[in-house]
Amino acid sequence: MTEMPAHSGVFSPFGLSADETAAASTLAVLLAAATAGTSRLPAAVAPPGTTDLAAALGARMSETGAKAWTTIDGRGLGGLREPEAPLRVETAGALVPLCGLLAGHPLTAVVTGAALPAGLAALLEGCGATVMAAGTGTPVTLRGRARPMAPSAPEDPTAEPWPLALARLCVGLTAPGHTSAPLPPGLAAVVADLLAAFAVPVAVAPAGARVRLTVTGESETTAAALAANWPATPAWLGDWSDGAPSLVVAIDGPAAAGKGTLARALAVRLGLAYLDTGLLYRATGWAVRRAGGDPDDPAAAERAARALSPSDLSNPDLRGEAAGDAASRVAAMPAVRAALLDFQRAFAAKPPAGTAGAVLDGRDIGTVVCPGAPVKLFVTASPEARAHRRFLELRARGLEVIESRVLQDMKDRDARDSSRGVAPLVAADDAVVLDTTDLDQDGALAAALVLAGARARGACGSSSD
Ligand code: DC
Repeated sequence: MTEMPAHSGVFSPFGLSADETAAASTLAVLLAAATAGTSRLPAAVAPPGTTDLAAALGARMSETGAKAWTTIDGRGLGGLREPEAPLRVETAGALVPLCGLLAGHPLTAVVTGAALPAGLAALLEGCGATVMAAGTGTPVTLRGRARPMAPSAPEDPTAEPWPLALARLCVGLTAPGHTSAPLPPGLAAVVADLLAAFAVPVAVAPAGARVRLTVTGESETTAAALAANWPATPAWLGDWSDGAPSLVVAIDGPAAAGKGTLARALAVRLGLAYLDTGLLYRATGWAVRRAGGDPDDPAAAERAARALSPSDLSNPDLRGEAAGDAASRVAAMPAVRAALLDFQRAFAAKPPAGTAGAVLDGRDIGTVVCPGAPVKLFVTASPEARAHRRFLELRARGLEVIESRVLQDMKDRDARDSSRGVAPLVAADDAVVLDTTDLDQDGALAAALVLAGARARGACGSSSD
């Protein structure tokens, strides 16, 4: 029998719960076991109890690099060996990928320890597996089959508990055709990156507060080599680390949709440079005012835009209402926009400090400034959600505001921004629309990461959507 230890805090990405972490870790190790060749995982992702499961299924493990890495010689999909002793797992999270993958293999395994999450036995049986559980739900005897039936989705997949959604995806890896399931964003980010690292074709799409993953079953997997700090550094980022071309992430969207916070967090997470392009317009408008000019004067505004230097962007006054007002005036002038274009494009193509790329946020990044950006997100939220966020922000600054007024202002400004003749606020045709109405900041970041990964993998020409 193998024992699954509690997970250390080392591998706890995106604030995943202990159960989600165990699920991701077990999936990583079992994918390596079910892949022909040698995969390399950070040791924290492959704790001994989990690798014991892989060993019981026929994989060979070794540690390298002062135990920083676990390498796994896998058997190939369909090549797992029938375990001679019961497989012991302590958490329902770890059970999910184990049972999901076993359901697609013609072998019998006794699984003991944690009880199956509600609904999992029925899901596995629906795919053609045989599940026999003792009265308390453990141990469970599971007999899988080659080419299981694709699991059917519930009526409202976004309300499905994540263990069932993840189990469906795992069965889907060995089932014919495509299988979709929406996962919480953090788990989706880790699972999508993992599947892609093993060359499983995986498509992603936003689905309310979740992110839907779609896998193509029966795909040939290839051995993965994850970074030491995976998943903090997603596997797909490695494709972009060798210089040109720059990885440009274009983020556009209306006010208070959370795009600034998201863009900054995404840049930090991916180690990319960040440019808040709104600051360029603010600095331009502010410079005109400071020189005693009128921000409505196109000649003065263009002169200020052309004279802008990076050091002008650090002035704290730029965040204020006065700078915002001046910015919105100069932003409507074609000559100003043209003058600021070169600065933005140069930043994107050759980011400062030699980073592998840059995140730019604004209104026209994906449409005008960087139309060739490999990753384009259009971040939005309902007017009510955005007005509420802005209301809380203003109140926190000690301002007396009425929420209904903030909402009306927001709607008016949306209409102006979307209908202005020059660089109107519209999503690029090839942008992914990320609606943050039902997402908190961590959820939005995780969702953006998984969407960015899908796009970036596609742009690099490796397996992806
Ligand atoms: O995002 P912000 O509030 O800092 O933007 C200030 C102004 O600049 C706002 O009126 C929108 C405009 N802007 C723009 O027209 N294009 C951009 N790429 C960024 C901002």
